[in-house]
Amino acid sequence: MSVTRAVAVGCGHYLPDRIVENAEFEKTLDTSDEWIRARTGIERRRFAAPNQTTSDLGIEAAKAALDDAGLTAADLDAIILATATPDQTFPSTATKVQAALGMHHGFAFDIQAVCAGFIYALSTANAMIRAGQAKRILVIGAETFSRILDWHDRRTCVLFGDGAGALILEAQTGQGGAADRGILASDLHSDGAYNHLLYVDGGVSSTQTTGVLRMEGQEVFKHAVTKLAAAGEVTMQNAGVTAQDIDWVVPHQANLRIISRTAKKMGISMDKVVVTVQDHGNTSAASIPLALSVAHARGQIKRGELLLMEAIGGGLTWGAVTLRW
Ligand code: UT7
Repeated sequence: MSVTRAVAVGCGHYLPDRIVENAEFEKTLDTSDEWIRARTGIERRRFAAPNQTTSDLGIEAAKAALDDAGLTAADLDAIILATATPDQTFPSTATKVQAALGMHHGFAFDIQAVCAGFIYALSTANAMIRAGQAKRILVIGAETFSRILDWHDRRTCVLFGDGAGALILEAQTGQGGAADRGILASDLHSDGAYNHLLYVDGGVSSTQTTGVLRMEGQEVFKHAVTKLAAAGEVTMQNAGVTAQDIDWVVPHQANLRIISRTAKKMGISMDKVVVTVQDHGNTSAASIPLALSVAHARGQIKRGELLLMEAIGGGLTWGAVTLRW
């Protein structure tokens, strides 16, 4: 039976120039390169320049993805941008990218699911493509988390970085089986009972300030491995594949210990896991498309290979997507 599939036809990323090594935090905080490496796997991260916004990063990633696909903005029907650090409260950062690309047709909107944002955006784009609402969607994850960090809180400020990644999905006809290219299955979850574990202590309607990130790290850690592995397993089952069929796991890059324990729980070895956390830190919604694009640029991920992406973030929100590249 022929079905419409959302197939990846190009991807790209952008990282701001400023590289911040772990050692830089030793000057102002009671922390060490050793602690950060051992507990998280992070060695360095990028921070946006003071005048660089989330849309600036997203625009560069979008251009790289269009180049990679051999397309222009005229070929797109929609832009979905996942971010928790928008340029402004409104308009959406997606419409800023749309304007910069000179795109006056179609539609653009933001998705807010914090670190799980890219999984939510992919799943939404897939549903719209399968419903015939759009043929080509540019899906972006872009963040400037350096703008919402408490520089006095060593438990959080050493963990995050800035960056953007983008993926173009295109409607193509598949046979309806696991051999099809494109998104084969997705699984989304949230549970607002855990709002207090990871949040920003400000906002438009509450304090009229931006606020800074607060996290009960250990509590989030406890939820992460179980919830991520469960979502991964559901998408594999719904796609009709097993852990042995997965060529690459492209996980949210928050903590190397979470990444490796989740892979182990799903029965997938670490040599099949794309790891960029050492260079990017946690870039929230940008982390999966950044890792994907870096692996694609390295020639690691090849056409026809089976990918499993999974992420968890504030909300709590979590989910997974299986996609044949
Ligand atoms: O992307 C959204 C999802 N977020 C995540 O996935 C994050 C999940 N959580 C984590 O990755 C980890 O919990 C952290 C990396 C945040 C923390 O690692 P941990 O092994 O859970 O450490 P901890 O919070 O239990 O802290 C252990 C100790 C504490 O000291 P005491 O109380 O034992 O004396 C902390 O105060 O480490 C201390 N500590 C630090 N020490 C040096 C916390 N942060 C630092 C630091 N440098 N930067």
